[in-house]
Amino acid sequence: MEEHIKDEELKIAKDKFYEFCQFEGCDHISGEYALYILLKLCKRYKVESVLEIGLGIGCIADTLLFYYDKKNMPIKYVGTEHNTFCLEALKTNTKFYKDIEIFDKVTSINVEQKFDLIIIDGGGTDLEIIKSVVKKNTILFVEGCRESQFIEIKKLFPKAVAVDVISNEKNRDYSPFIKSHWMGGGRIIFANPSLKNYLHYLIEKLNTKIKYYKRRRLDV
Ligand SMILES: C[S@@+](CC[C@H](N)C(=O)[O-])C[C@H]1O[C@@H](n2cnc3c(N)ncnc32)[C@H](O)[C@@H]1O
Repeated sequence: MEEHIKDEELKIAKDKFYEFCQFEGCDHISGEYALYILLKLCKRYKVESVLEIGLGIGCIADTLLFYYDKKNMPIKYVGTEHNTFCLEALKTNTKFYKDIEIFDKVTSINVEQKFDLIIIDGGGTDLEIIKSVVKKNTILFVEGCRESQFIEIKKLFPKAVAVDVISNEKNRDYSPFIKSHWMGGGRIIFANPSLKNYLHYLIEKLNTKIKYYKRRRLDV
């Protein structure tokens, strides 16, 4: 992609999404906008450890690991995946394969490890383990705003505040997603919100309100 983009995180999200759209089994990859949000979260909160539930064919993992490699910053990346096709695809789709610690399911994770960012992008239902692997201000990100998983999470973290982050762009022509639909975003959840988290939450709430308003106008 030759487009000149000043926002580094946006450029990486676009390029990586395009790259993964070319891979076999790309139907379930993360949306471009979700990749962008995740990169921005990593930057803003200086994330050093990530748990991704549902590695799939590796779109999020490769995007974040590429970013950290480019920035020469350390990152611990742990993920879960059980699907045989995805486990094989991960080996070839990302040159950072050796940097991902892979478990078959969330309950197999070593609970001595704690994570700055937890990405939930799989249908696993054993989310209770998350409680054992959070730090004081861990951020959770649910790709595509899966409501049932959010209800589970809210039970685990009653003080949590959550905000949906949405895009005002429609799916790319080259994506496997329906072109007339809005690009998928996600839900940022501050498990035990600090003041900084709370301010961020309020800003995102406002952004989302404005975007929904713009969407309604664009849809008319
Ligand atoms: C939404 S996908 C995860 C996407 C992943 N986080 C990524 O960035 O590419 C959720 C789950 O769907 C399953 N899945 C994803 N792609 C698949 C495929 N091509 N074939 C079969 N199962 C797939 C995997 O078990 C995966 O954990």
